[in-house]
Amino acid sequence: MFIRNAWYASAWGHELQADNMVSRKILGETLLFYRTSQGSVTVMRDRCSHRFAPLSIGRREGDCVRCMYHGLVFDAAGKCVEEPGRKGVSPNTDVRLYPSAERYKLVWVWMGDPALADPALIPDCHFQDDPAWACDPRYIYYEADYRLILDNLLDFSHLTFVHENTLGGSKKIAEIKPKVEQTEDGVKLTRWYLDEPGVAPYLDGFATFEGRVDRWHIYHLTTLGNVFVMDSGSAPVGTGAPEGIRVPEAMQFVATQIVTPEDEKHAHFFWSYAHNFRLEDSAFTRMLTDRIQEGFVEDKFFIEKQQAVIDEGGSEGMAFILADNGLALGRRLIEQKLAEEASA
Ligand code: FES
Ligand SMILES: [Fe+2]
Repeated sequence: MFIRNAWYASAWGHELQADNMVSRKILGETLLFYRTSQGSVTVMRDRCSHRFAPLSIGRREGDCVRCMYHGLVFDAAGKCVEEPGRKGVSPNTDVRLYPSAERYKLVWVWMGDPALADPALIPDCHFQDDPAWACDPRYIYYEADYRLILDNLLDFSHLTFVHENTLGGSKKIAEIKPKVEQTEDGVKLTRWYLDEPGVAPYLDGFATFEGRVDRWHIYHLTTLGNVFVMDSGSAPVGTGAPEGIRVPEAMQFVATQIVTPEDEKHAHFFWSYAHNFRLEDSAFTRMLTDRIQEGFVEDKFFIEKQQAVIDEGGSEGMAFILADNGLALGRRLIEQKLAEEASA
């Protein structure tokens, strides 16, 4: 079961060239993505209306796509515009078109009621294309229930153990009690690690200052589209970071992590890690992102193993511990939304 009335990040804009097509399953439905000659993106069901051949093994013909089974042609609105051997087209031959929009380097698709698809509801991910920040967009495919990935994001105590030598590097991360708040559409977590001996291992060699550090993770996860945006960083100890002062040497990052279900047991993970210093240094951006990716590979390893155990014996009987308040709230908000949509 998925929340349907939400914008889901479904492709990076750069995946759609002038003349290619991308096929990707989102919430259990396989969609076809392509870019028209006007530069806009179109998203339709990847399924010919005739005998259900995938359109993705068809042929681009200008702004149209031809099914290469019996030759029906569909325009960028999913409308059947040509049927070989017939003047006009047979009835009921259009393909379902999905509301879509390209924003913040991503292609977003609305999987629910088209009448509710307001682009103003696309979650704010502007750090990905704000000139004051630099990032290198990435993608990871998960063989896991999207909710296991959200659980992971809502409980950073795992950084101490899963990411000991990458993103973590501090015992305090598992020991502190984060501030957990419910927002209008999600969960906000605030975590401060004050007076740490140094920066996280992934910043080795990148630090802009020496000595002890105040570190933080402040993030929001909206359950509408599963968009996680995190302000994180490291500042020289005692320079007022917790009070909102960010001295010039403070290293600041904004991580955007979006989990789009492919189906019940697979997910797409679109992410970036923006920084607001060394903006012109694309080699630095790439290196930094590579190091973060090492951490995300550690998460993927754990979460896919966890999914395998659940596949074997189900998820009944999991114990709740003190660190679970964030993820429990996230799960509850998802259940609430699902119930709302089911009753509507
Ligand atoms: S299946 Fe596409 S034209 Fe027949
Ligand atoms: Fe992690």
